Amino acid sequence: MSDIVEALERLLAMQPERQVDEALDLLDRLPPVHDEAWNSRFGAGSLFDAWSRTSIARGVHAALAEAIRPVVQRPGFVAVEVGAGNGRTWSDAWRGGERGTVVAVDPVPEAIEQLAAVLPQGVELVRQHARVEDIDLPDADLVVCSMTLHHLAGRSAAERAQHGFTGPGKREVLERFGAALRARGGVGLLVEADVDCELHLAPGDPALRDNILDSYVRRCARSILDDLATRSPPPELARAWRGLLQHWFLEQVRVADVPRAERDVYELTRGQWLDLLDEAGLVCEEARAADDRGLFVLYRFRPR
Ligand SMILES: C[S@@+](CC[C@H](N)C(=O)[O-])C[C@H]1O[C@@H](n2cnc3c(N)ncnc32)[C@H](O)[C@@H]1O
Repeated sequence: MSDIVEALERLLAMQPERQVDEALDLLDRLPPVHDEAWNSRFGAGSLFDAWSRTSIARGVHAALAEAIRPVVQRPGFVAVEVGAGNGRTWSDAWRGGERGTVVAVDPVPEAIEQLAAVLPQGVELVRQHARVEDIDLPDADLVVCSMTLHHLAGRSAAERAQHGFTGPGKREVLERFGAALRARGGVGLLVEADVDCELHLAPGDPALRDNILDSYVRRCARSILDDLATRSPPPELARAWRGLLQHWFLEQVRVADVPRAERDVYELTRGQWLDLLDEAGLVCEEARAADDRGLFVLYRFRPR
């Protein structure tokens, strides 16, 4: 069996135009290591837990906590968390003594329970076990949507319809964020990777393959390889990070070839997100790199 760390270092040293073919060859040679899919488990010992301990995820969560903190200091705040994950976005946001409400929207109950575990006593949790595109949102001082909206295919309902999908797209959901923030003069925080793998790119398109490899392997996997080399992780964490390298990052290259409905990641570049925020009637006050690799961008916005 090829060692995943050595194999990825070899791949990343190759000419960029050879890397997608090498990644696909490598996947054929490697035995499967894990069956825990992205966003399927969130507790201690999950791959998601290991992901949230990488430098990239820590950078994103630190940037979010810094932006959340001033809002939750206001007594009686209402915050909406879209896509709870393992609650790490929120665990460092508290100074103590906050009083308010967090409405958590996530179709996976386990994710909301992870968030429940990191809320202070004075903060009430309202559980919304649903996909964000299927529900109405309450008036809020803060809407946080980190690494989640890319699960929804299509920039708009119209783009979805072109590809046989029904229902709202990203723009319509962003419009709802604006409507939820308007009454209380609230602020929205969106975090997404800077990469185009949206519906307009067809399965097997070389640009889609390269974009996915660039994001998941050249930037994310590169950062985790550096974490392994420099941060001396304990053996269990090192083992989980190696699992991530193969199962969540290298294997993601295959997503470029599956039918559009199975792609599950429909990300946009920073320029495309900025256009979309504008089209949704939102003013972007800040768009800044949330991690040291420039992969994720934190957008702070308000309704126009
Ligand atoms: C990659 S995790 C991000 C978690 C967290 N926001 C963070 O930044 O670490 C994506 C989360 O979104 C949830 N999710 C996926 N599709 C969703 C949808 N349509 N509406 C709401 N949540 C969704 C998943 O269950 C998961 O908890």
